[in-house]
Amino acid sequence: MVINIGILVSGRGSNMEAILKAIRDGKIKNCEVKVVISSKKDARALEVAKTYGVKAIAIEEVGFKDRVEYDNEIMKCLIEHGVTPDNGLVLLAGYMKILSPEFVNKFKWRIMNIHPSLLPSFPGLHAQKQALEYGVKVTGCTVHFVDESLDMGPIILQAPVPVEEDDTVESLSNRILEWEHKIYPEAVRLFIEGKLKIEGRRVRILK
Ligand code: GAR
Repeated sequence: MVINIGILVSGRGSNMEAILKAIRDGKIKNCEVKVVISSKKDARALEVAKTYGVKAIAIEEVGFKDRVEYDNEIMKCLIEHGVTPDNGLVLLAGYMKILSPEFVNKFKWRIMNIHPSLLPSFPGLHAQKQALEYGVKVTGCTVHFVDESLDMGPIILQAPVPVEEDDTVESLSNRILEWEHKIYPEAVRLFIEGKLKIEGRRVRILK
């Protein structure tokens, strides 16, 4: 079965681009990115998506009554583009909004997120800064399924990144980002190949 992908973004879109590149280069097969939706009109990600020939749309929250109404619009847009709860995969790639429980339940275990820390450490905003200020010697990044909690859904893949003595938030973020660009496409590939099996909190990777 071909999986139809929708990517939600808010900014730069480098993780989105890593996934688009992996698909273009044939590293991930049997899928198509049907639409990129940005919560911000001026997101660089929108321009990048277009250079890959992918439909890119901005849907900003202003004008919607609440998060549920906003998320209904996002879901409608995904479904109109063929990204459905039966055959779809929704990828959050620097999407700076929390999904409503309605959204999460409709696309149950079909939504993934990338986060720049080794969860469950440092959820929420500015994870790299949190790690540096806490003084950990190793941090990293995590791809996880999205459930109703914030950054706490079942973990698919993680990559550790050592903190260097002279690291700044920027240098650490850049090194983590290199790993984000590796593990996110890999997690997508595993999903599409049917190799992820969720057992409670554990995601088993089948051979
Ligand atoms: C990435 O570092 C991603 O892990 C992070 O935002 C950045 C987006 O960059 N996401 C979060 O912090 C989510 N809580 P990108 O737009 O270049 O992919």
